[in-house]
Amino acid sequence: MNKGFFITVEGGEGAGKTTAIASILAEIREQGLEPIATREPGGIAIAEQIRAIVLDNRHTAMDSRTEALLYAAARRQHLSEKVIPALESGRVVVCDRFIDSSLAYQGYARGLGMDEVFAINKFAIEGWMPDLTLYLDVSPEVGLARIRSDRNRELNRLDLEALQFHQKVRDGYEEVLRRYSERVQRIDAEQAPDKVASQIRRIVNQWLRGRV
Ligand code: TMP
Repeated sequence: MNKGFFITVEGGEGAGKTTAIASILAEIREQGLEPIATREPGGIAIAEQIRAIVLDNRHTAMDSRTEALLYAAARRQHLSEKVIPALESGRVVVCDRFIDSSLAYQGYARGLGMDEVFAINKFAIEGWMPDLTLYLDVSPEVGLARIRSDRNRELNRLDLEALQFHQKVRDGYEEVLRRYSERVQRIDAEQAPDKVASQIRRIVNQWLRGRV
């Protein structure tokens, strides 16, 4: 039985997920809960190794379906090893990316089809969908400019895709929003950072109210 809450954060490159997660964690702690923060692909050793393969800049030969399967495999391991046990023990899990990334990036932007990508993920997640998803919406021009000016961030294989690809990712997320309007909340991530942070805290606060 799912006793905890599963919150995911989504967005294109440079949307500000790391800062957003800090706000989410702060708000959850304010409600007296101790959240677990994790990320995809990764979060545990096996999935971090899959991450290294899938994001390696040298792997330009990677087939789109292989890419989708690797993300789904990393998701499965992370879910079974870390997320499900935490949720079952009543924890709030905040995850940087989950299935919506695969729908937007592989399903839509790579052109594999959202339904096809959902199907392989259905096998991987066995119904463990997020309870709440915050989608940080930023134009690819602004997002890519942010990551290029961040000296601490190494550009990975997907970052290096053309602007057009990142525009498709954004269109993919729009479709995710349409399909899952009850679960996914859109945040304008081009606003001033303090506005983004306060909007996030408000959403999380309202969502948790009545549930804890
Ligand atoms: P990150 O840089 O936000 O940690 O994400 C790693 C990259 O992997 C990012 O470019 C998005 C991409 N990605 C997918 O394409 N599909 C997925 O299912 C996930 C989880 C990430």
